[in-house]
Amino acid sequence: MFSPFWFIHRQLFVTIDKPTASFTGKTVIVTGSNQGLGLEAARWITQLGATRVILACRNVDKGRTAATSIRNSTQCSPETIDVWALDMSSYASVQAFSERVKTELPRLDCLLANAGIMATKYNVTENNEETITTNIVSSFLLGFLIHPKLAETAHKFNTETHLTFPGSELYKVAKFKERKVPEGKIFATLNSKETANMSDRYNVSKLMTILLVEKMGELAPLGKSGVIINAVCPGFCYSGITREYSGFAVSMFHKMFARETEVGSRLLVDVSSASSASHGHYLPDGKIVTLVGMCKGKEGQELKARLWAELSPKLEGIHEGVTKL
Ligand SMILES: NC(=O)c1ccc[n+]([C@@H]2O[C@H](COP(=O)([O-])OP(=O)(O)OC[C@H]3O[C@@H](n4cnc5c(N)ncnc54)[C@H](OP(=O)(O)O)[C@@H]3O)[C@@H](O)[C@H]2O)c1
Repeated sequence: MFSPFWFIHRQLFVTIDKPTASFTGKTVIVTGSNQGLGLEAARWITQLGATRVILACRNVDKGRTAATSIRNSTQCSPETIDVWALDMSSYASVQAFSERVKTELPRLDCLLANAGIMATKYNVTENNEETITTNIVSSFLLGFLIHPKLAETAHKFNTETHLTFPGSELYKVAKFKERKVPEGKIFATLNSKETANMSDRYNVSKLMTILLVEKMGELAPLGKSGVIINAVCPGFCYSGITREYSGFAVSMFHKMFARETEVGSRLLVDVSSASSASHGHYLPDGKIVTLVGMCKGKEGQELKARLWAELSPKLEGIHEGVTKL
């Protein structure tokens, strides 16, 4: 389980090597890359030779500022970086973005589906609590819609492509009381304003991500598609993710334990270029691990099946046929 000693050790004493994988000739999309880990991961991927890097951002102006910062620091050619609009709180935006990927990109080697939120207040987008829409429904809608492009690239260029989602070790502290409801009612319970436990919601979303990545890996075997699907945890890092938290204690906690954003981003890059052994797995600090707590063993298998049984009709309701990979 989540041990404070392990956390302190990881945050203060584990060193994260700079990524060395070559992205030469590759086209990569990083969502939520106008700031934070996504921006730094996009910077690394550009530095490592990617031919084309698309910053997928809800605020295009902020995306353009990020693109300029990457161009200036890497001296890449101006056309290497593109900024495309993507708002994960809108299914129409996710679908329009995916259509653009399908029609405008000759190849796609990696989708780092990094965008995410840690909301402390209950808010609704697309008929779900906002964290569930952004971190789960839209993230997997995007993943399923773009998977065929990644598979096409893998076959056409005889390579392996990557689809990487952001997990978190906070999955270990998720209480996820909403799972203790009758069959088919988990999402409905998560969406109830009356019972929503927003201090647990981010942790729940990361637990769901890790199990759903495992499920997606089963549904889309690597041998058939050539797409490596995995999940990453960059450790606790400076970024905007805790933007709704403030005060002396939060600031001190960051000062004492947080990794620099750039350091955490190295792991996003590592896992976005990880070997085929990582398919379907969660890799905190870049290493495949055995899941614990409610993700472990029979309980984990059952929870995964229940989550998929609820998410798949939701995705099909948004975009018919999307889950048939
Ligand atoms: N930082 C950590 O310690 C940590 C640890 C484990 C996992 N993670 C995960 O790493 C990922 C990146 O987060 P971060 O730490 O870099 O936080 P961040 O600085 O807040 O960056 C999050 C990014 O996601 C974007 N985003 C949020 N909602 C969006 C939406 N509806 N549509 C499009 N983009 C949206 C944000 O755009 P705006 O700027 O427009 O809001 C921003 O670019 C998240 O999935 C997070 O859960 C972070």
